[in-house]
Amino acid sequence: MRIISTPGEMSRLARAIRREGSGRHSLVPTMGALHEGHVSLVRAARDGSTIVTVSIFVNPTQFGPNEDLARYPRTFEADCAALQGLGVDYVFAPAAPDMYPDGFRTSVHVDGLRDRLEGQVRPGHFDGVATVVLKLFAIAQPDAAFFGRKDAQQLRIIRQMTSDLDLGIEIVGCPIVREPDGLAGSSRNAYLSPDERRAATVLSRALRAAADAIGRGIRASAEIVAAADAVIKAEPMARPDYVELVDADTFDRVGSIERTALLLLAVRIGSTRLIDNAVINVRDGEVNVER
Ligand code: PAF
Repeated sequence: MRIISTPGEMSRLARAIRREGSGRHSLVPTMGALHEGHVSLVRAARDGSTIVTVSIFVNPTQFGPNEDLARYPRTFEADCAALQGLGVDYVFAPAAPDMYPDGFRTSVHVDGLRDRLEGQVRPGHFDGVATVVLKLFAIAQPDAAFFGRKDAQQLRIIRQMTSDLDLGIEIVGCPIVREPDGLAGSSRNAYLSPDERRAATVLSRALRAAADAIGRGIRASAEIVAAADAVIKAEPMARPDYVELVDADTFDRVGSIERTALLLLAVRIGSTRLIDNAVINVRDGEVNVER
């Protein structure tokens, strides 16, 4: 496994991979502090690709002024050891001044999707994500890129950008990986104290309550959201930012379940903000919930 630390070196390598027709090159963009969710992305990428590159870059432009950029966990050595064991070919780990040199002026906005839900609570977040992902795509020139479905709005925005800009990169969304007690894998779980860690299961419990309501035949959003809300309200350490049922394509709120929808949660546990979601699939009148 080779570690590449400059965009110039990575693009030279990417051009050589293309020129030599070396086979399918997959990119797994990450901010490091790797957990089982990332491992599943790398495994999915490894399976069916000739070359796998993982990028590790804590992207400053996707953090708001009062967010956790400074304290975001950085575990580069351990990350590299894990990636080596997973058979990764290249780790691209650029420094921020090389990604955003003085005079950098460009920002990517995916209108209509960037300023609601996560984007409303975290203004500018998705512009930062779209900009860095487009840069990573331009530098690494992958055939495919792998993202977790936990960040559902991010995945939707990256798909839209890739299609709008004809990037010709296959975007693969991978299932959420959960701890045995249901907590979704996140680098931010490292911030939780033992009590907060216990309270954090409220997100997956809320999704389960909503899934149970759907299983009982409830289709009205207000009732499904209320089932999830009741679980969150019963947890004293939890403060919800939002609990919303939205159309999986437009991210508009829906009144009832008629086509594929997403139940999205953002909840603060102490000073840690966690997100989670469930996909509500509707096929031939059958509804099933994927968490
Ligand atoms: O999901 C993440 O870790 C980040 O948002 C991403 C896609 C690597 C962009 O910085």
